[in-house]
Amino acid sequence: MLGTLYGIGVGPGDPELLTLKAVKVLKQVTHVFAAASSKNDYSLAFEIVREYLPENTPVDHLHFPMTFNSERLENAWQANCEQVVEILRQGKNVAFLTLGDPLTFSTFIYLMRKIRQRLPQVTVTIVPGITAFQAAAATATVPLAEGEEVFTVVSGAKGGDRLKEVIATSDNVVLMKTYKQFPQILDRVKEVGLQDSCCFVSRCGLQGEIVERDFGKLLEMEQPNYLSLMIIKKRGLESS
Ligand SMILES: C[S@@+](CC[C@H](N)C(=O)[O-])C[C@H]1O[C@@H](n2cnc3c(N)ncnc32)[C@H](O)[C@@H]1O
Repeated sequence: MLGTLYGIGVGPGDPELLTLKAVKVLKQVTHVFAAASSKNDYSLAFEIVREYLPENTPVDHLHFPMTFNSERLENAWQANCEQVVEILRQGKNVAFLTLGDPLTFSTFIYLMRKIRQRLPQVTVTIVPGITAFQAAAATATVPLAEGEEVFTVVSGAKGGDRLKEVIATSDNVVLMKTYKQFPQILDRVKEVGLQDSCCFVSRCGLQGEIVERDFGKLLEMEQPNYLSLMIIKKRGLESS
């Protein structure tokens, strides 16, 4: 008998944004995995759930390199997949913790695919989580979509190069992963003339939270924290 794989969304940072269902499952599983920084083994997802986990639940941190190098990524995913597969084969129910929601820009998606290739008969259960952009919109009180509006979520990891294309057909856009290519992203926002219509949110719900609507201040910012995103509204933030 194989164990069940639970993909658990833990929300973007504030432990109070964990769902009741996530807490319930975490109290029942026999093993927990969390993605961790390759540098220091730190896992924010684990810190978020720490107070809800039974003390004796084994927790393993899996390292996923932050790189576009497909060979390095493939090797890391394969090794991590094998660790999880081994526990599932022992018949243990496993939870994989994901920041935000497990099926939104998440490492869990790749891991789930790999595990299903290795164990096609495995049961996967997803516990959705509050996404970073939902929490950021709430913190900034910026509506994400209303009426017939089109709302698009796109990665900024490659410098926001898709902003021009998506803003043509969307009323509101969220740019995730704005940390690495921040100056390029600000250039793209300027190019589409929406510098007075964007709201930057960093470390939402965590120590050091920033909510900034002043584009001039964004231009002065050093590289922002990894946990940063931007909400852009074509009709202006005033419509919020
Ligand atoms: C790999 S994606 C994870 C997204 C996550 N699965 C979700 O549903 O929100 C990482 C990106 O999510 C955003 N993010 C996650 N947590 C955040 C937070 N607390 N504050 C602001 N942005 C956050 C940032 O854009 C970050 O670069």
